[in-house]
Amino acid sequence: MKNALITGITGQDGTYLAKLLLNKGYNVYGLYRRLSTPNFWRLQDLNIYDKINLISGDLTDLSSIMNVFKVSQPDEVYHLAAQSFVEASFESPLATAEVTGLSTTRILEAVKLFYNNTKVYYAGTSEMYGSSYDSTSLDENSVFKPMSPYAASKLYGYWISNIYRNGYNLFVSSGILFNHESQIRGIEFVTRKIVNDAAKIYYNLEKKIKLGNINAMRDWGYAPEYVEAMYKMLQKDKPDDYVIATNETHSVKEFLEEAFNYIGLNYEKYLEIDKRFIRPLDVPVLKGDYSKAKRELNWEPKTKFKDIVKIMMDAELKRWDGYLKGKKFAWDVPNYPNENSLLKTYMVKK
Ligand code: NAP
Ligand code: GDD
Repeated sequence: MKNALITGITGQDGTYLAKLLLNKGYNVYGLYRRLSTPNFWRLQDLNIYDKINLISGDLTDLSSIMNVFKVSQPDEVYHLAAQSFVEASFESPLATAEVTGLSTTRILEAVKLFYNNTKVYYAGTSEMYGSSYDSTSLDENSVFKPMSPYAASKLYGYWISNIYRNGYNLFVSSGILFNHESQIRGIEFVTRKIVNDAAKIYYNLEKKIKLGNINAMRDWGYAPEYVEAMYKMLQKDKPDDYVIATNETHSVKEFLEEAFNYIGLNYEKYLEIDKRFIRPLDVPVLKGDYSKAKRELNWEPKTKFKDIVKIMMDAELKRWDGYLKGKKFAWDVPNYPNENSLLKTYMVKK
């Protein structure tokens, strides 16, 4: 039986990946950080909370990393943990660099020094391309021009992974994953924010939806399919980099329209553009070419844009309906910070 260690086990991808690996017979270990409010709702929602070995620690703490390796003795490490919210990276650029960037080196050092035969997956991102779009689909050879502290930190992680692969002959593969969504996506990301607000508006619990740049375009896929690609990368004989995407792009406005149409409402009646959600810089458009993954991993996306909206909208309607009927769910009823008190530090002009 193989041992897998997942950093970021409490996140969207960590949870889906843990479920996949459990189904494949792995012993799954997960690094989680102790928070004042426990955060295991995703693992509970997918009914895997009791099946995982959870190890407390923090990515910024080298002894946490060494301990988690010692306890889990991993054959495979899936390094998913990060400060993953682009908007927040403008407010906490140094913490983002520490967690999202530098921590990758901590993981790789552990492997280099003591666990040479362990295979590593690094969670790279389409955000690394930034403004390099030139109207064609982006692939593994496209230029990186990051546009946020998050993207710059991820690009550091990507290159350091490459350096450890080539310099020390370690098995380190990077996925360059384009946006992927699901019903357990974090509440602040735009797709989940839209379906959550749309459901609340549908049930008269909310009057407005406040968004930023609705012209941005993203290549949105379905998260449970994307974690399969991570697993496949580590089953190969040689490490490499792979774009994981759908090769389609849609605007935030299209997502909004599709979600509101699904519940028979016109989004224009409820939308308010709020400057607080407009970032200092924003990647205008992303579209990925997954040909290499199809060819070498036999991976391709299955769930289409409209189906993703439908899956997420259905889950959200069910959740808020349950809330109104007084049902208890594994998921807490999510809320943003009170919008009236939400101040964005990147808006302060000196
Ligand atoms: P997510 O839901 O935000 O999960 C991030 C995970 O990292 C959470 O488990 C979080 O723990 C953990 N974490 C953050 N800071 C930590 C620290 N200091 N120590 C230990 N753990 C820490 O992200 P996701 O959507 O699953 O994405 C997984 C990875 O893929 C991330 O690296 C992300 O940047 C990358 N990625 C995501 C996408 C996408 O569209 N989803 C696309 C490309 C790349 P808490 O639960 O305690 O916060
Ligand atoms: N979150 C958010 N909230 N985004 C908004 C809003 C809003 O109110 N209004 C417009 N947007 C726009 C953002 O400006 C961005 O252009 C787009 O919607 C998508 O934003 P997010 O859902 O926050 O995702 P992201 O594309 O910035 O980053 C996600 O995908 C990356 C891969 O490309 C994250 O999952 C990253 O971790 C990941 O690397």
